[in-house]
Amino acid sequence: MGSLAGFALTKQRAASVDPAQPASAAVPQEFLERLPDPVIVLNVAREIVAVNRAARETLGIGLLGRDLALSLRHPDVLAAVETVASGLPSVTEEITLPMPIPRTFTLHAGTLHRDGVPTATDPQLPCVVLVLRDETRARRAEQSRADFVANASHELRSPLSALIGFIETLRGPASDDAIARDRFLGVMHAEAQRMARLVEDLMSLTRVEINEHVPPRHRVDLADVLIGVTETLVVRAEKRQMTIALDCPDDLPPVIGETDQLTQVFHNLIDNAVKYARAGTQIRITARPVERLPSTQAAGVKISVTDAGEGIPAIHLPRLTERFYRADEGRSRRLGGTGLGLAIVKHIVNRHRGRLSIDSIVGEGSTFNVFLPALPRPIASPNGDDDDGDSRPDPLGVTKL
Ligand SMILES: Nc1ncnc2c1ncn2[C@@H]1O[C@H](COP(=O)(O)OP(=O)(O)O)[C@@H](O)[C@H]1O
Ligand SMILES: [Mg+2]
Repeated sequence: MGSLAGFALTKQRAASVDPAQPASAAVPQEFLERLPDPVIVLNVAREIVAVNRAARETLGIGLLGRDLALSLRHPDVLAAVETVASGLPSVTEEITLPMPIPRTFTLHAGTLHRDGVPTATDPQLPCVVLVLRDETRARRAEQSRADFVANASHELRSPLSALIGFIETLRGPASDDAIARDRFLGVMHAEAQRMARLVEDLMSLTRVEINEHVPPRHRVDLADVLIGVTETLVVRAEKRQMTIALDCPDDLPPVIGETDQLTQVFHNLIDNAVKYARAGTQIRITARPVERLPSTQAAGVKISVTDAGEGIPAIHLPRLTERFYRADEGRSRRLGGTGLGLAIVKHIVNRHRGRLSIDSIVGEGSTFNVFLPALPRPIASPNGDDDDGDSRPDPLGVTKL
């Protein structure tokens, strides 16, 4: 443990490093500054002789000449330095620093001397280098993938167990009971349909996520989309004595989008209104041009789906578009919901560079607003023709679907 002894021995003498001094001459500061990960260089006494910008900004470490233990109070970091000091060339481990919000880093600690940490007395002599790589985002992504798989499996397991249970009953105790058989087959059909819906929604979500970074390029007339969706849902609404009122001006500007995906957005929103609003009420769909979309300067279109339902308590609103999140778990399951509808909506709207906002008042109802960028107006032709938008190629190469 000769090198450790050297550590202790030189500690007092090295404490005289001037914090105002620039980084140790032996460490090219310019080089360190350009490294994206936090780097801390220590002398033999475990004092900081150089840090880069990433370390200053991420870890708030600024004072040169300070003992590492005073700047980065983490037992694993100090232990890693000790290990390196005791002769091991390098150590790599994962640490979580409390920060304001805990962050996970991979810590690499290594000596800068082939023969281990020297017992030199020069306080500027760099001996140990610490490099921290922020893994917080990667860990979160891993966690969310793991949660997703667990949730999806859990959602599939309950209809599957129900199906297996009923099949066993039909083969055994209920094999001669025609009435029970009919009833069970009805339930089995519903459970199988639930699984099919779940798989369908999972596949939609994956498809949307895969190309979320590729903005759509087609011209879409929302009136056509809204009329189509309303027509497919009106029968379901009638079963609950509900009406759907569509208010869409003839001169609504076209948007840039993908018809199938926008159809899915409004299908999911209106389907929710049909499911969750009170029977006998009206669902209102309004579409209006807006001069400026929220958070951008661009012109766009706002489509609102308003229902007269029980409303959604404010506490749920920020999480409503998370996968499998349900404000009213029992109700969603009873009505055959997958908990994925709004997650799909959010990803499609993101892909369209739009915005989704939800207003809800408990006891009165909810409004889901979708903002979409309008198709930029083509440059007017010199002969003064009105643009019908359909037949002529426009500068964006946008085509009517
Ligand atoms: N119009 C609405 N009124 C009340 N609650 C709603 C409405 N739309 C969605 N919700 C709530 O948001 C949750 C998530 O919706 P969604 O992602 O479409 O899943 P699902 O409808 O399959 O349950 C629903 O379970 C429901 O609790
Ligand atoms: Mg839904």
